[in-house]
Amino acid sequence: MKNLLLVLVFLGMLSCDNKLTEKEKQEYTNKGNEISQATFKALGEKLTEQMKLGGPDQAIPFCNVAAIPITQQLSEEFDVIIKRTSDKLRNPENKPSERELEIINMYHKLISEEREMTPIVEVDKNNNKHYYAPIMLKVNCLACHGKVEEFVSLKTDSIIKSLYPNDKAIGYSEGDLRGIWSIEFKK
Ligand code: HEC
Repeated sequence: MKNLLLVLVFLGMLSCDNKLTEKEKQEYTNKGNEISQATFKALGEKLTEQMKLGGPDQAIPFCNVAAIPITQQLSEEFDVIIKRTSDKLRNPENKPSERELEIINMYHKLISEEREMTPIVEVDKNNNKHYYAPIMLKVNCLACHGKVEEFVSLKTDSIIKSLYPNDKAIGYSEGDLRGIWSIEFKK
């Protein structure tokens, strides 16, 4: 009896995973790629503008108030929920869910095994579709996420700490996994 139950649970898990056909998986992967790239571009353009105007000391307070509204506006445009999250947070509002943390750890593992990382598309138990993809640290991210005194000036560091007293998103190197995109589709 107990074994039968286990088998049923196992089959249940399988059928959950199988809800998306290969074609659907590809469609959601394409949509996810498009949405994350558009969001990256929108955030990046604003950030570059502010960096040109006044460097990180101006761009950080700008990100502090603008990053989430920009992401929300794009969420509405695409009719999805767009999130950027990390295992080392700066903004507590970007806190990962349990599943998001598992995905981040999975990407860390792939990196340590020098294996390729690809976006993940899956269905949750409420039949909502999710897209996840890694966010890597580039050289132009280091002014605000790199090592203090090497890339992040002491002044910039103190501005970060004043806005984010629990900041963990510092001390990264180029090529590190900074976090993930997490997109939930409404349909
Ligand atoms: C001008 C400083 C600055 C630069 C440059 C910068 N960031 Fe950030 N980053 C921030 C701030 C401030 C936040 C918190 C505000 C927010 O986005 O919600 C943040 C948040 C994030 C988050 C959300 C997770 C969290 O910890 O809150 C990710 C992911 C991220 N940054 C990745 C990057 C990447 C990748 C780059 C380079 C392409 C980059 N950042 C460049 C300042 C910066």
